[in-house]
Amino acid sequence: MTVPAATSSEIASGGGGDRAGPVHVAIIMDGNGRWAKARGLTRTDGHKEGVEAARRALEAARELGLHCLTLYSFSTENWRRPAGEVRDLMGLLKQFIVDDLPRLKREKVRVRIIGDRENLTRDIKALIRRAEGETRDNSDFTLQIAFNYGGRDEITRAARAAAKSVRDGALKIDEITEAKLAEFLDARDVPDPDLVIRTSGEMRVSNFLIWQAAYAEYIFLDVLWPDFSADIFRQAIEEFSGRERRYGGVGGKTG
Ligand code: IPE
Ligand code: IPE
Ligand code: MG
Repeated sequence: MTVPAATSSEIASGGGGDRAGPVHVAIIMDGNGRWAKARGLTRTDGHKEGVEAARRALEAARELGLHCLTLYSFSTENWRRPAGEVRDLMGLLKQFIVDDLPRLKREKVRVRIIGDRENLTRDIKALIRRAEGETRDNSDFTLQIAFNYGGRDEITRAARAAAKSVRDGALKIDEITEAKLAEFLDARDVPDPDLVIRTSGEMRVSNFLIWQAAYAEYIFLDVLWPDFSADIFRQAIEEFSGRERRYGGVGGKTG
C-alpha cells in the first residue's frame, strides 16, 4: 500500500504547528434549499446562489494554494427530487460550463467531471466533453465536479470494468490490487482529498468519494452553502492544518 509523500513527512515531523496544507479539498455543497426557504425563495433560487458560492470557493481555493478542488453538485440519489428541481440543477450545470469555460481556460484550470454520464442528456455529455477536452493540458489546478456522482456507483462501475478486463485477458485476477482498482475509478488522475468539508450542519457523507476519502480529514460547518466565503474556507484550512493525520500509525505526539 502506498502512503502519500506528504503523510510520511508529516509523521516524521513529529507533530507541532508546521504541518503541510491540503493539496486537494472536496466539498459537499449542502444547504441551498434551507437558505432559500429562510428567505421565502424557491429551491432553484437557492441553487443559483449556490453556483455563486462555488465560484467564490474556486477562486479562494486557488488563492489558498490548493491544487485541486472537488465540488459535489449532483448525487446519484438526487434524482429522487421533484422533476422540476432536477431539470433546474441540470440547467445550472450547463449554464456554468457555458458561462465559465472561457474564464477557466484563461486561468489555466483543468476541468474534470466525475460521475456516471450514461443517463445524462446528449447536450450535457457534449458540454462535459468540451470542458474536459479544452482544458485537459492545464496542470496547475484541477476543478473536479461530481455530477450524477455516487461513491458506490463509481466503485461498482470500476469493478465491472475490471471484470471486463479480466474477461478480455488484459488483467489477471491476482493483479487486482487497491492501486489497480483505483485506476478504474472516475477520479483516477487526481490525488485523494486531504480534506472534505460539508456545509449546512449535516454530519454525513452522502455517498461522496467513499473510496478516495478513506483517510481524509472531515470538517462539518454550520453555514449554509450559499453563505460560504473565502474567509470560512481559510478558517477550515487552518483547522485542518492543526490536525494530526496518522494513517493507522502512532503519529508524532505519542509515538
Ligand atoms: C445542496 O443543497 C445542493 C444539492 C444537493 C444539489 P440542497 O438542495 O440539498 O439544500 P437543502 O439540504 O435542502 O437545504
Ligand atoms: C449531498 O447533499 C449531495 C450534494 C451536495 C450534491 P444532499 O442534500 O443530497 O444529501 P442528503 O440527502 O441530505 O444526505
Ligand atoms: Mg441537502
